[in-house]
Amino acid sequence: MTRILRIDASARTVRSLSRKLGDRFIADWSALNGPADVTLRDVGKTPPPIISDDWIAAVFSQEMTPEQQALTRISDEFIAELAEAEMIVITTPMYNYGMPAALKAWFDQVVRINKTFTFDLARGDRPLEPILPGKPVVALTSCGEFGFGPGELNEGGDNLVPHLRFASRYLGMSDFHHVGIEYQEFGDARHERSAAEANRAVRDLAARLSQQPVRAAV
Ligand SMILES: Cc1cc2nc3c(=O)[nH]c(=O)nc-3n(C[C@H](O)[C@H](O)[C@H](O)COP(=O)(O)O)c2cc1C
Repeated sequence: MTRILRIDASARTVRSLSRKLGDRFIADWSALNGPADVTLRDVGKTPPPIISDDWIAAVFSQEMTPEQQALTRISDEFIAELAEAEMIVITTPMYNYGMPAALKAWFDQVVRINKTFTFDLARGDRPLEPILPGKPVVALTSCGEFGFGPGELNEGGDNLVPHLRFASRYLGMSDFHHVGIEYQEFGDARHERSAAEANRAVRDLAARLSQQPVRAAV
């Protein structure tokens, strides 16, 4: 049974296209590999706390006080979920050309010194090194506009997928995959086409990933 950590980030709990893509991927994966063991972390419904001065002091302290332990408990929980996962599925809308604040808050809670990365200036210009073992990260997105590619109408506006791809290295990413729906705000034939293509792409992705061995978690 594949252990999948699923992060849902849409504030919409019904009618969410990104959540539907997530359901599609899990169903397609399970059809090919048998039922998956899915841990759902719904940050859209329950946004994680924003990190604070006290939180930063806690994670950099040599030995935590009981108060600091309490302050970092949710971060510990999120990181334990990450460490146990063999695959990570993130479903998310684009909000204001980037990720929803709730998802960013989750990243801020899990990218943590000596838990998900080490820091050593002896490594030169790349002092940060991820700790967790490699696993595929699947990002399933939805946005209202369209054309964020090179030379297209909204080139430069996509600060969602590049951010997810880059930050995912600290989740222990081995490979990154993205499928997205566009044109949601137009609700026209282009949107219908985009949604249909995304469903097909999700099915193909599930099939492709089924061919590669899933790496064991820690
Ligand atoms: C607060 C908010 C901000 C949004 N910002 C953008 C945006 O910057 N660019 C865009 O293409 N769509 C934007 N949208 C549209 C959503 O990305 C789109 O509705 C998407 O389908 C939402 O994901 P969901 O269906 O999973 O809830 C925004 C929607 C909301 C509610």
